Amino acid sequence: MPSRRAFLTTGGAAVAALVLPTALGGCSGNGLFVRGGNNSSENSAGTLLRSEAPLPEPFQVPLPILPVLEPVRGEDGTDHYEIVQRAERMEILPGLSTEIWGYNGLFPGPTIVSRRGRRTVVTHRNELTVPVVVHLHGGRTAPEHDGYPTDLILPMGGDHSAHQQHAGASVVGSRDYVYELDQPAATLWYHDHRMDFTGPQVYRGLAGFHLIRDDEEEALPLPRGEREVPLMIADRSFASDGAFQYPSVDPSLNGTPGVTAEYMSGVLGDCILVNGAPWPVLAVSDTRYRFRILNASNARRYRLRLEGGGPFVQIGSDLGLLAEPTAHEAIDIAQAERFDVIIDFSGHDVGDEITMVNDHGRDGTDLVMRFVVTRRESDDSAIPDQLVELERLSEEDVVTERQFVFARGGAEAHGMTLWTVNGEPFSTDAIAARPRLSTVERWTIRALNVEHPFHIHLAPFQVLNTGGKDDAGPYNQGWKDTVNLDNGGQAELLIRFDGYRGRYVLHCHNLEHEDMMMMANFEVV
Ligand code: C2O
Ligand code: CU
Repeated sequence: MPSRRAFLTTGGAAVAALVLPTALGGCSGNGLFVRGGNNSSENSAGTLLRSEAPLPEPFQVPLPILPVLEPVRGEDGTDHYEIVQRAERMEILPGLSTEIWGYNGLFPGPTIVSRRGRRTVVTHRNELTVPVVVHLHGGRTAPEHDGYPTDLILPMGGDHSAHQQHAGASVVGSRDYVYELDQPAATLWYHDHRMDFTGPQVYRGLAGFHLIRDDEEEALPLPRGEREVPLMIADRSFASDGAFQYPSVDPSLNGTPGVTAEYMSGVLGDCILVNGAPWPVLAVSDTRYRFRILNASNARRYRLRLEGGGPFVQIGSDLGLLAEPTAHEAIDIAQAERFDVIIDFSGHDVGDEITMVNDHGRDGTDLVMRFVVTRRESDDSAIPDQLVELERLSEEDVVTERQFVFARGGAEAHGMTLWTVNGEPFSTDAIAARPRLSTVERWTIRALNVEHPFHIHLAPFQVLNTGGKDDAGPYNQGWKDTVNLDNGGQAELLIRFDGYRGRYVLHCHNLEHEDMMMMANFEVV
């Protein structure tokens, strides 16, 4: 079986892991994924993969409200949860059945709601046919529970010899992930992080919300209950039989990693799902609602806007509440970013329709979902002028500076140039940075060739400036774990390394780039 290293052409000695699409078409006769062309970037690195199945008219189905997972038990400051990862069938497109891989057979997975200061333990059992890894995105997590890409949960039974070279700290069948969650209230999410195969495994459905609550947030008069709604936005493409369509070189996901060359920059679907439903509708009252918006797409970026309504009043970023609310006419959201927003429907009459659109999209991808005001209700919520005390990191605290260039180049496989960090393809044993525990560093991140959303595990950051401007820009306030970088863009970040010592990853959150080597280790020492 090919190992990670097999991606690389090192002196011509390595075995090729990537197959050129010509070779693929020639040997498998599978021309299925070769369409769409490269002409449809829609402001996102990637190639549009058109659905073969007819897509439904937008705004025909209700927005699914995601179930909250109940703990199986709670004791001594710890809540225990159990999740089984398994295949299931769902009707996503009307009249067609889609096999998904889901946490508890659900896509999106069930929402976990944790309380700051209580430990959360999640036992994940793998009933899929492939290895999995679970990462809590945005979590301040000990390294052994962070979902390092080679710390696999191997499937029960079966032959595991194929995965020997990715052994890491692997286990068979199930694993307990322990989350101390000593961090402020925030919108986190959990998703697959398996070495080489994160893109296809998230695409099949392995993603869910994990919210953290705390007293500070609860003291605020924000909308709650059924007026607090997580929204997971993700694009997908469908085969004629309703199956998710993804251009894996090996769709079993047990052999050769990677996507066919045409999709190397990213896989863009033509059907926009919110909470797993295509272009859904939410019936609302004429009150304020809180939406926790997550872009869980592999490669697609969005510019969200409310047609017939607006603005979005942002109250939180990736890692928690802002100091003050900020109104936006539109929101630019890259993969893995979260925007916690209030939409106020109180100026509307019953019957009004407010459509969330994507100004980066077209031919269907320009639409996201719709709100329809169906009733009047009283509202005792408010948006306070001050939300939380936010500590500002200061340049005076900086002990070290580093630069990271995210670009295509430095490594090749069969004439295809791979995605790299500082010219290096990912390797489990190369450490790109060794920040000291409890220090602040200034990192300059540059994105070349195409757009790259930068993400770092464990360590929260604040954006000093982007793109040569001297401020963070409208969408980078507060504590972040992911920052949107345009092609040729640059951001300066102040990053605080605290919590744990150990080895973690940083990577591009375009999942095709991540799988094709755009990742690096850092070790907190
Ligand atoms: Cu959301 Cu390392 O990932
Ligand atoms: Cu990238």
